[in-house]
Amino acid sequence: MSEAGTMNATDLIFQLRAVQYLYAGRHVALDSIDLDIRRGEQVALLGANGSGKSTLLKLLDGIYAPSSGTMQVLGRDIAAVAAGEDAFRFHREVGLVFQDPDIQLFSATVLDDVAFGPLQLGMSPSEVKTCCDEALGEMEINHLADRAPFELSGGEKKRAAIASVLSLHPDVILLDEPTASLDPRTKWVLVNLIRRLGEAGKTIITATHELEIVPIIANRVIVIGEERCILADGPAEAILQDRALLIKANLIHEHLHGHGGDHTHTYTSTSGPAVR
Ligand SMILES: Nc1ncnc2c1ncn2[C@@H]1O[C@H](COP(=O)(O)OP(=O)(O)OP(=O)(O)O)[C@@H](O)[C@H]1O
Ligand SMILES: [Mg+2]
Repeated sequence: MSEAGTMNATDLIFQLRAVQYLYAGRHVALDSIDLDIRRGEQVALLGANGSGKSTLLKLLDGIYAPSSGTMQVLGRDIAAVAAGEDAFRFHREVGLVFQDPDIQLFSATVLDDVAFGPLQLGMSPSEVKTCCDEALGEMEINHLADRAPFELSGGEKKRAAIASVLSLHPDVILLDEPTASLDPRTKWVLVNLIRRLGEAGKTIITATHELEIVPIIANRVIVIGEERCILADGPAEAILQDRALLIKANLIHEHLHGHGGDHTHTYTSTSGPAVR
């Protein structure tokens, strides 16, 4: 941001206009998406199962090209990136942690996966080692370095997948349900890491069902509705206080029943009874 508080063109990382994505040419996964995301923003992407969060992150990462509409990322037409043009350089700047870590981990050992990006960049062996030690340390999995990814538990795989993206130090980090299947301590280690990376100026977009982490990891929230369009986009505090919106988007569930007098319990997707 400039001193006057206005953004210049280079601050615009993602620009989507009337973007639609269809699977198999007919199944609408996202529709009418207009979106600007600027450098240094921390965004939480919320929506019910099947609303299109993972699809949007794959579009932002240049894995998919829009079926219609236009999309620029870092000033480049994303369709060219999706077609493979200069894709490695792009992925040095924009890293995606997939919802399913099995997609991310393809090497014989965790260390090989974490070292893959730095090696591709042509770093020296000592630089590669430093990047890998740091990334494994951030996820507290140095002890898993020599293990085969397919032998790991679900949470360990998730941590290895996150480390394999962190080792490249991308400026833009896309995280698809990064805390899913993590134990409580590891979850808060990761939440704190996301907060620190945000404070350090990274642009971070996190799809999550865990509303309790949203105020810590994001200052902006985008809600995708079950119609696969953006239902709301605004400051995190305002959106998280809008119960009608959260219920409409199926992000909290209000269950009315009558034991001991009528009252309601509100459930989030990840907690038991919460709020009130
Ligand atoms: N490979 C695929 N082929 C066909 N349809 C798909 C494919 N992947 C996702 N879809 C469909 O696209 C829609 C959006 O899916 P997406 O995975 O983006 O949702 P999501 O918001 O990430 O859901 P979740 O919270 O369950 O992860 C869903 O209707 C889903 O069934
Ligand atoms: Mg998903």
